[in-house]
Amino acid sequence: PTNEAEVEVFSVPSYACQRRTTLENRNTVLTDALSLLAENAELSAEEGRGVAFRRAAAVLKVLPEPVTDMTQLRGLPCLGEHSLRVIKDILENGASSEVESTKQSERFKALKVLTGVFGVGAKTADRWIREGIHDLQQLKDSRQTLNRAQRAGLEHYDDINQPVSKAEADAIGEIVEEAVASVLPGAQVTLIGGFRRGKLSGHDVDFLITHPEEGREVGLMPKIVSWLESQGFLLYQKTTRNSYLESDDGPARPCSNMDRFERCFSVFKLDEDEKRRAGQTQSHHASAEDGGLKPWRAVRVDLVVSPISQFAFALLGWTGSKLFERELRRWAGHEKTMSLSSHALYDNTQRTYLRATSEEEIFAHLGLDYIPPSERNA
Ligand code: CTP
Ligand code: MN
Ligand code: MN
Ligand code: MN
Repeated sequence: PTNEAEVEVFSVPSYACQRRTTLENRNTVLTDALSLLAENAELSAEEGRGVAFRRAAAVLKVLPEPVTDMTQLRGLPCLGEHSLRVIKDILENGASSEVESTKQSERFKALKVLTGVFGVGAKTADRWIREGIHDLQQLKDSRQTLNRAQRAGLEHYDDINQPVSKAEADAIGEIVEEAVASVLPGAQVTLIGGFRRGKLSGHDVDFLITHPEEGREVGLMPKIVSWLESQGFLLYQKTTRNSYLESDDGPARPCSNMDRFERCFSVFKLDEDEKRRAGQTQSHHASAEDGGLKPWRAVRVDLVVSPISQFAFALLGWTGSKLFERELRRWAGHEKTMSLSSHALYDNTQRTYLRATSEEEIFAHLGLDYIPPSERNA
């Protein structure tokens, strides 16, 4: 290697589930830009374009050094013409004109604000924008009928859009542990989602709940929710039965115990006192006595209950990242002729379910090296 034109050339496997993606990212300027375009595409019902930008950003996240020259990107997977144009613009001009104009666009700003309301998706936001609603004041002034989730989302807008810290996630974890221990001793609570991947903040806190004896988890969610409600911990909750039967997870057929997954979308009321009990020494919120500010905050929390027979699949499916999950399913389908869901792994060639009691076994069934949660931050 003595060539004077030499630049570092990277080699990266094409599926995110073949790669180790830590939270250390040397290319945040580029990945933030591509993520913003992905978000804009997703909010505009252009899912394909969204995935393409997410895949491109994920490739840049694993590069060991900041990209300084387009030649370093030769041979890398998932970098389409459009993503390469954005990267080139940033390397040459310090910013991407497309990203900057998207950020400034009234439509993007309105979509962001409106979908920031819990319970509001891209479709609803789009409809409101077509009716002339671009911000929260206009939403409040309009005579739109809001559902229960959206009313809670509007009421707790600022809290819900403020990132959740690890200390707050731990405090919520203690409350959930107490609830679960009270209604079903022996049941187990596992932190999932971004916090399991080692993130220091998140948009919500996610928990998976199971019991080591198959069947004992049946009917558990309503009991947990009742306990939490009786203690005043819930500002909002909606419990849904498993939607597996209606999902588009592929040809994997549910077996008899597969209608048991239950999920609860909720908004917790977290007292500053609870946070201190969980080990945080200093509170940044003013106390009620200090200045009339409320001594609590609203936090989005997702709870999932799984039977122990599906626990490993649920754990893998709910740890994320969303792109990592998508890539696992794409790998399973395209490279292994298998169907992976949060419930099961089905081999379409052998026409059989592949059992697993750990995430390691699922990676092995898929012919992949095991990737720990902290390296699934694609
Ligand atoms: N998930 C899912 N079905 C949904 C929503 C989420 O299976 N309807 C999964 C996602 O694929 C992800 C996990 O649940 O693996 C957590 O999702 P989410 O809380 O949205 O994302 P996080 O990775 O936890 O990121 P954040 O910190 O923003 O919460
Ligand atoms: Mn939303
Ligand atoms: Mn989460
Ligand atoms: Mn979640």
